[in-house]
Amino acid sequence: MSESTSGRGTAVAEQPGTGPMVRVEDLRRSYGEGAAAVHALRGVSFEVPRGELVALKGRSGSGKTTLLNLVGGLDRPDGGRITVDSTDLADLGEEGLLALRRDRIGFIFQSFGLIPILSAAENVGVPMRLRKADPRERDARVELLLALVGLGDHAQQRPGELSGGQQQRVAIARALANRPALLIADEPTGQLDAETGLAVMELLRAVVRSEGVTALVATHDTQLLGLADRVLELSDGRIIDHG
Ligand SMILES: Nc1ncnc2c1ncn2[C@@H]1O[C@H](COP(=O)(O)OP(=O)(O)OP(=O)(O)O)[C@@H](O)[C@H]1O
Ligand SMILES: [Mg+2]
Repeated sequence: MSESTSGRGTAVAEQPGTGPMVRVEDLRRSYGEGAAAVHALRGVSFEVPRGELVALKGRSGSGKTTLLNLVGGLDRPDGGRITVDSTDLADLGEEGLLALRRDRIGFIFQSFGLIPILSAAENVGVPMRLRKADPRERDARVELLLALVGLGDHAQQRPGELSGGQQQRVAIARALANRPALLIADEPTGQLDAETGLAVMELLRAVVRSEGVTALVATHDTQLLGLADRVLELSDGRIIDHG
């Protein structure tokens, strides 16, 4: 496996724990080739300051999911630079990206992404199992996180036995399991009714404060944008409003 060196040596060295949590510079990503190419991101630059909840809005097809996947190390850009917690993602090979996603980023998806045959508690524990955390430490943190999201009494229920809002609360607890620096959420309220969606967003707002985590959240929902520290607006692969 070859390690990309494209970003090495060019960035000003920055200590982890200082500077913005996310820095994106002139990011480009296209799908397909030639005349049929779709330019999903056409030179996107922004920063997410530490400890903030930044919302990403824009109509369908504007590039939100493409951008989140790149920041989260699930995909590679065609051009530009992404720095997460002072790490230039171009400096990471596949193993490095895997470790970044496992240890420093928590993902929350519209469709919750829980494992159906596992209980709520087991789902929350999965990231810690992947990190081979001590089982006693794991069980204690699972209990604490389920209490944090208000599901202490539902630990043994499987996803199919929980409401949509409860499932998304489990997913938020799971995303926090390995004490990530950054939460990335792609339309986390998209499958929820307005009231439940607002409650889930308020929970995200609260955990950003209480856990000292930073969050980048794509949402269509104007009601939720008011809870963000700032709102970035994407249109046709470009940021048109930096909040
Ligand atoms: N795997 C892919 N192959 C080809 N085109 C893609 C792919 N993924 C996304 N696109 C295109 O890139 C553009 C941006 O898509 P993206 O999913 O990032 O938008 P979005 O803002 O998340 O939209 P939505 O609000 O509907 O989720 C769209 O034109 C889309 O069709
Ligand atoms: Mg999307």
